[in-house]
Amino acid sequence: MTQDELKKAAALAALDYVEDGMIVGVGTGSTVNHFIDGLAAVKERIAGAVSSSEASARRLQAHGIALFDLNDITDLPLYVDGADEIDHGFAMIKGGGGALTREKIVAAVARRFVCICDATKLVSCLGAFPLPVEVVPMARAYVERELALLGGRPMLREGFVTDNGNVIVDVHGLRITEPRQVESEINQITGVVTSGLFARRGADLLLLATPNGVERRIA
Ligand code: A5P
Repeated sequence: MTQDELKKAAALAALDYVEDGMIVGVGTGSTVNHFIDGLAAVKERIAGAVSSSEASARRLQAHGIALFDLNDITDLPLYVDGADEIDHGFAMIKGGGGALTREKIVAAVARRFVCICDATKLVSCLGAFPLPVEVVPMARAYVERELALLGGRPMLREGFVTDNGNVIVDVHGLRITEPRQVESEINQITGVVTSGLFARRGADLLLLATPNGVERRIA
C-alpha cells in the first residue's frame, strides 16, 4: 500500500465515530482531505462541520457540508485530525500545513480528539519533524532567539502566511522528551501565538493505518 492509501484507510475508519445529528470538528491536511471526502457520503445524517482552516472549509463547502462558527455552538463531540508525529502517550507535533492555531482551538473545544495517521507518524520521541510555531510577525527575530535557547534551530517558513496573518517558524533538531513542559515553555515566549506541540491536549484515540489494517489505540 502507498502512504496515501494508508492515510485514506485511517481517514475512512474515523467515519465510525460520526454519529447522527453531530457537528464534526475537522482538521487539516492530506489525511483529513480523505476524511472530508468520506464525510460527504454521510452528509445527510450530520448537522455539519467546524473547520480548522480555510483550506478544509473550502473542501467541506465544495461537498455541500454546512459550516458552523465555533462561537455559535456550545458542544463539539468529535474532532478528527492528522498529525506530523505522534508519540506513544498521544502527544503530537502538528502544523506541517500551517493550520496549528485553529487546529489547537478546535481540539480544545472538542470532547474527543480522534487522530488519523499512517504508521510512519508514530514515533518514540517527538522532534525529528521540525516543530512549527506560529508567531506574530514583529516578534519573529526575538522569538527565534528564544527558541534557539531551547536547543533547536529555528527557521522561518519562507513565503508562508497563516490563516491568521502570522508567520511560521519551524524548529529543527529538537528531541522532545518532555512534551508538556516544552509546550508550556514555548507558550510563555511573548509573540508566540501557538506551538504545534499538542501535549496538554493530545489525542484520545489513534487510528493508525498499517499494511495489515487500521489499529485502534486508546490513550
Ligand atoms: C496541518 O496544519 C497539520 O497539523 C496536519 O494535520 C498534519 O501536518 C498532518 O498532515 P498530513 O495529513 O498531510 O500528513
